[in-house]
Amino acid sequence: MKKLRKAVLPVAGFGTRVLPATKTIPKEMLPVVDRPALQYVVDEAREAGIEHFVFVTGRNKGAIEDYFDRAYELEYSLQQKGKTAIYDALDADTPEAGTMSFVRQQSAKGLGHAIWCARDVIGDDPFAILLPDVLVKAEKSCLGQMVEAYNSVGGNIIAVDAVPEDRVSNYGVIAPKSRDGRLIEMSGMVEKPPVDKAPSNLKITGRYILQPEIMDILKTQAAGAGGEIQLTDAMATLMKSQAFHAFEYEGQDYDCGSKLGYFEAVLAFAKDHPEIGIEANAMIKKFAQ
Ligand code: G1P
Repeated sequence: MKKLRKAVLPVAGFGTRVLPATKTIPKEMLPVVDRPALQYVVDEAREAGIEHFVFVTGRNKGAIEDYFDRAYELEYSLQQKGKTAIYDALDADTPEAGTMSFVRQQSAKGLGHAIWCARDVIGDDPFAILLPDVLVKAEKSCLGQMVEAYNSVGGNIIAVDAVPEDRVSNYGVIAPKSRDGRLIEMSGMVEKPPVDKAPSNLKITGRYILQPEIMDILKTQAAGAGGEIQLTDAMATLMKSQAFHAFEYEGQDYDCGSKLGYFEAVLAFAKDHPEIGIEANAMIKKFAQ
């Protein structure tokens, strides 16, 4: 079994649900306390052993590339002023040279198309996908839990969690067949089903470990739900020929692409923040009265 080293992060989306904040700032760069949402996702992937990141970007996303570069003037100034702790924190987040690739998705044709744009960098390797809209707060990183499962069963694994039944049509939903602990065998999956047609209330969370053959399927994948090329449709085909499991991870996800989800993520991460956590908790209690 090939080791999982690469991850694809699709970051070309407009962020229409949080406009006007995202008119000039990529939604992935919105701060959750003091770190961009994207940094949490990169941290999660690193913790799971990912060594190379492939960002699928689009127009107006230049801030993302700059964020992962050195900021010489700023770093020099921090050092001159003796702000060592801040400098060290920035330095620790700077990726090693050559460990990030940026590919372009010129038009918004759907998540499946975005992933296919990374095919040349992925080559013949298994890879993870992390949707940066989704932050997962967990004891052990969500992708880390999946890698553990991957090391025992191999094949393809997608993270799932339960949602209230009236919300299933916002997501990809799986049809579970049998369960072994947190691993679930499936008979199928469907993207954004009507509530009365959903095969379960287990939604696809936004963390995937896939084999490279998905790229061959995506190449000819017809548009599906919402007129977009859907990753879920391609995965439903792949599961007919390869081992494929869903994995009910331990943790809590926050949809930072929506106003309320973003707000909840800020509260959740502020509450446990090493610098402001205690005061943030007191503040949250004050507002709850
Ligand atoms: C995407 C996927 C969907 C998944 C969701 C998780 O949908 O297509 O299967 O459940 O992310 O957030 P989107 O949110 O891009 O519409």
